[in-house]
Amino acid sequence: MLVMLPGPTNVPERVVRAMLKPVMGHRGPEFRELHERIIENAKYVFQTEGDVFVLTCSGTGGISCALENLLKPGDKAVVAVSGVFGERMAETARRRGAEVVEVPVEWGEAPTPDEVEEVLKDDVKAFCLVYNETSTGAKARDLKVLCELAKDHGALVVVDAVSILGGDELPVDEWGIDVCVTGSQKCLACPPGLALISVSEDAWKTIEENPSRPFYFDLIRAREFWEERHETPFTPAIPLFYALDEALIMIREEGLEARIERHARCARAFYSAVEAMGLEVFPRPEFRSNTVIAVKVPSGVDPRRLREIMKEEYGVLVAGGMGKIRNLVIRIGCMGIISAREVILTLTALGNALNNLGHENDVGAALRAARRELGLARG
Ligand SMILES: Cc1ncc(COP(=O)(O)O)c(C=O)c1O
Repeated sequence: MLVMLPGPTNVPERVVRAMLKPVMGHRGPEFRELHERIIENAKYVFQTEGDVFVLTCSGTGGISCALENLLKPGDKAVVAVSGVFGERMAETARRRGAEVVEVPVEWGEAPTPDEVEEVLKDDVKAFCLVYNETSTGAKARDLKVLCELAKDHGALVVVDAVSILGGDELPVDEWGIDVCVTGSQKCLACPPGLALISVSEDAWKTIEENPSRPFYFDLIRAREFWEERHETPFTPAIPLFYALDEALIMIREEGLEARIERHARCARAFYSAVEAMGLEVFPRPEFRSNTVIAVKVPSGVDPRRLREIMKEEYGVLVAGGMGKIRNLVIRIGCMGIISAREVILTLTALGNALNNLGHENDVGAALRAARRELGLARG
């Protein structure tokens, strides 16, 4: 089965095989060596000199960790909400007891500097946003400017980069991101189950002053274990650490820049081809993500049936919509090991399944459009 979901995504065989190594103790030199390499390579992917931690939990756990270490009950947080994951971020902060000011954004679009500036007052502790809203396929293209704005107002910047880090440009230090969170199962091409989180110097100052940090996700405790022994405070998911190690080594071998360009090329191929099929992409061109392709399902086509045919007849798994656009779109992951092969197979499945359901389209023309973008001969 080709897993073209916007996470979890296809995992290279090398990474799968890495998980078969015998389980080791997590308080010995073998684990420390593994952990050191993982952190060094993770810093490369985050483009940070700051601290990075690997947490045994999914992406949502990473977001909870970020917000519960930074925010005390009563603190003010501004959260941009442009889809399901923005809503979750706001809810996480609210449940923490923070006073949350939402910046409502049209789904399929991204927060603008003007919208954010309007609510950013100097008493805001954290400005939080989802860089790549997986539910809509839209990227916050102004992230760098938004970070500068937040800094001008003394707010820390917390970025949910779960569906984008490792697949698109995100220089954490250069853009001034204080806490950045990703998950193992997306652009890193690793199985699900781990979250990675970066922490800046400024973020540490706030965390150190927070007496109500969570117990399991206490970042100060994680820092102590890292600094003193290069270990994790609690038992890590060792097979997943093996997998992450191999996945990060593969990223280094390819080079981050080449990897980002590969994602961009495959995204261009998807967008050109679906438009050649007569389909409408959910976000307008200026907001389109390179890692999540959200396409409107033509009227008269049942999205559930469309996905069923793609899965059962072509062995290609894509996702449905979420939240209020649940029945409006399908979402394709353009992540991790994405290459011409996955793009062509997915488009073939999509075009033929649509023909099957009576939405006539020229699959050949769509594939030619994709091949041109992929730089394949005689596109
Ligand atoms: C942007 C974003 N944030 C958070 C999450 C939650 O991650 P997880 O399902 O790994 O907890 C996801 C998962 O799809 C996501 O895409």
